[in-house]
Amino acid sequence: MKIQIINGPNLNLLGVREKSIYGNSSFEDYLNELRKRFPTVQLDYYQSNVEGELINKIHEVGFSYEGIVLNAGAYTHTSVAIADAIAAVNTPVIEVHISNVYKREDFRHHSMLAASCKGVIAGFGMDSYRLAIENLINT
Ligand code: DQA
Repeated sequence: MKIQIINGPNLNLLGVREKSIYGNSSFEDYLNELRKRFPTVQLDYYQSNVEGELINKIHEVGFSYEGIVLNAGAYTHTSVAIADAIAAVNTPVIEVHISNVYKREDFRHHSMLAASCKGVIAGFGMDSYRLAIENLINT
């Protein structure tokens, strides 16, 4: 089974950026834990700060992988183009957020992507990614 994790803008700074919201761990450290936890799953990871590159990655894996776990960062709230990419591919996409976006500023309460996704997981810290993977494995 192949699952692609995609992180969008500013998520390369996890462990450095706004630690009170996003925690102390880098994504690479957390990814090692995930790979140990799911040894039979091929867990690929991609991060970009560039909207079009996120779209290219969705197109690249979206007809062959069993799932995509997508944290599009702030593009979640703005990007019609990423929503269209999710709708265009066959692979189910789960939208994830580390923080509980509904406890934060109003502009974070709306997702442009959610309606095109299988589901949304928000507010469980890095564990949001694990919960999304569990769903993709178990369905
Ligand atoms: C985020 C929430 C977004 O609102 C924000 O722009 C991010 C991270 C999260 O994981 O909590 O960059 O997607």
